[in-house]
Amino acid sequence: MEGLNFKQIGISFKGSGSYVPDQILTNQKISQKVDTSNEWIKSRTGISERRISSLGDNVTEMGYKAALAAIEMANWDIKTIDLIVLATSTPHDLFGSAPSIQAKLGASKAVAFDLTAACSGFLFALITASQFLKVGGYKRAIVIGADQLSSFVDWNDRRSCILFGDGAGAFAIEATYEFDNLIGFDMRTDGERGCFLNLPSKNNKDSIIDNIDFLSGAFSPIQMNGQEVYKFAVREVPIILEKLLKKMKYTSDEVDWLVLHQANQRILDSVGDRLKIPKEKILSNLEKYGNTSAATIPLVMDEAIKNNRIKQNDIIATSGFGAGLSWGAALIKWG
Ligand code: UT7
Repeated sequence: MEGLNFKQIGISFKGSGSYVPDQILTNQKISQKVDTSNEWIKSRTGISERRISSLGDNVTEMGYKAALAAIEMANWDIKTIDLIVLATSTPHDLFGSAPSIQAKLGASKAVAFDLTAACSGFLFALITASQFLKVGGYKRAIVIGADQLSSFVDWNDRRSCILFGDGAGAFAIEATYEFDNLIGFDMRTDGERGCFLNLPSKNNKDSIIDNIDFLSGAFSPIQMNGQEVYKFAVREVPIILEKLLKKMKYTSDEVDWLVLHQANQRILDSVGDRLKIPKEKILSNLEKYGNTSAATIPLVMDEAIKNNRIKQNDIIATSGFGAGLSWGAALIKWG
């Protein structure tokens, strides 16, 4: 950090980008693998298909492509980027994938690191990066949400495998002097309920030499109690959003778009009903992509920005939620 500049008070949103792998897995195709049907998946989740990484699509590649698109939209010289935060639970390298993205971009000035908070990851990363900008040390940041959950799904477990897909999304954000387009935020964690959704390590005991054991590093597939996660989401998400709107003195009528983590259409509908936000204002693309974990929020927002649905100065209420358990909310003005 070179010399603090305390005049910076907020952030603005300069660009967005996203990327999904080409390979499409439809509900019909999943029903060739597990005992399910297009009708069941569609009616219980709203999902029709999802994208699955194949060779060459990993979190580094997907995150890089999303970040590059966001930088192009922002029209930034890559060498002016100070910070890259990658939200992911499925890094290509457990030591961190953000540095590889930094190198691929050629963003040699930027410090780059990963942040893990599952499906709340993008929101937590956006809030984290914005704090660095507001403190005054950094001017330009790229925030990426990218996940490849297909590598960790149990493809024989019909209760969870139907939900997840792969993808990446990114925002380019910049420090501002006179206003703050991250109007407000809140973040929560309840580790007591963490057992409802896990991607736990699986340490097999082995020995290095006689009497000295070690635990090999590997992971078990995703374990999920779907009903409990569902109940958690429909209870906590409206509460955190209502409190945030109240604190920032906004009414739900003033919200142009409700952007929730794309987990299940029924969750989106239920939260919308609670907040009295009409369906037309709720962004949804999970029909095409399923739950892409840390990528859902920037992925659905990038789509809406590129389609001219989200416009400059639109007010967006957003919430991410999932494993941890963790959840968060942010009130944003786009632009
Ligand atoms: O980022 C957060 C990630 N996680 C989530 O968002 C999960 C939130 N939870 C959910 O979205 C829903 O709980 C699910 C979509 C996972 C499941 O829907 P549900 O309405 O809660 O179903 P259920 O678990 O209550 O199961 C109802 C029935 C059961 O059969 P019985 O016991 O009533 O005979 C299940 O065995 O549906 C059965 N079932 C299925 N049937 C066909 C469960 N999965 C399937 C399936 N196809 N894929």
